[in-house]
Amino acid sequence: MLRRLDKKQPLNFKFSAKNLAWAKKQILNYPKGRKQSAVIPLLFRAQEQEGWVSKPAIEVVAKMLDMAPVRVFEVASFYFMFHLSPVGSAAHIQVCGTTPCMLRGSDGLIRQCKDKISKRAMEIAHDGKISWEEVECLGACSNAPLVQIGSDYYEDLDEESFAKIVTDLISGRKPVPGSQTKRFSSEPIENLTTLGTKVEEAQNASVELFIDSSIKEKGSNTKRSLVSKKDAPNA
Ligand code: FES
Repeated sequence: MLRRLDKKQPLNFKFSAKNLAWAKKQILNYPKGRKQSAVIPLLFRAQEQEGWVSKPAIEVVAKMLDMAPVRVFEVASFYFMFHLSPVGSAAHIQVCGTTPCMLRGSDGLIRQCKDKISKRAMEIAHDGKISWEEVECLGACSNAPLVQIGSDYYEDLDEESFAKIVTDLISGRKPVPGSQTKRFSSEPIENLTTLGTKVEEAQNASVELFIDSSIKEKGSNTKRSLVSKKDAPNA
């Protein structure tokens, strides 16, 4: 899939003081002469700050790492986790459309995106809050079909469960990620077959992290309401 920079670009980009300090510290994590290795964390921090990766942001990162801007662009355009255009402020839904997800019904998820968000990918709908796009394999095929929203995966979806997630996002709620069919992770649906020890935790570490950080965020004036822990899909 060809990915290009957005036609509309801001005039400039500047890391906030806090992010600049963080970025400089990141660079120090790598051996002398190898600071280019910090390109992904720096690009990601730029995206977290602005919501997407603009040309000026690429140029700033390139300058900090002594790289040609085109080399930084190559990284940003290769990985789907980098958004090269503005996306929804509350959620940008990335639907995996590669073969395992396609065989498990990703076309139904795309249909829901078209019905509930916008007919075309990368169009920001619902007052700038939500957007969607189809992406290549997200590396979690055993939980197909799935979508990625920010740092979270919503797995084992069908049209119905996904429609509910989209509706929640549109109404400002923050649905709990992870398997939507109550699988702990990617174990067999019926039962464990080889490693017979039953997992005691209510949910896996990624879901736990989401719940904990959302509860903290809620405590700090967030307007989004969180699905309660007892309603978590893996609880
Ligand atoms: S094909 Fe969808 S995660 Fe791999």
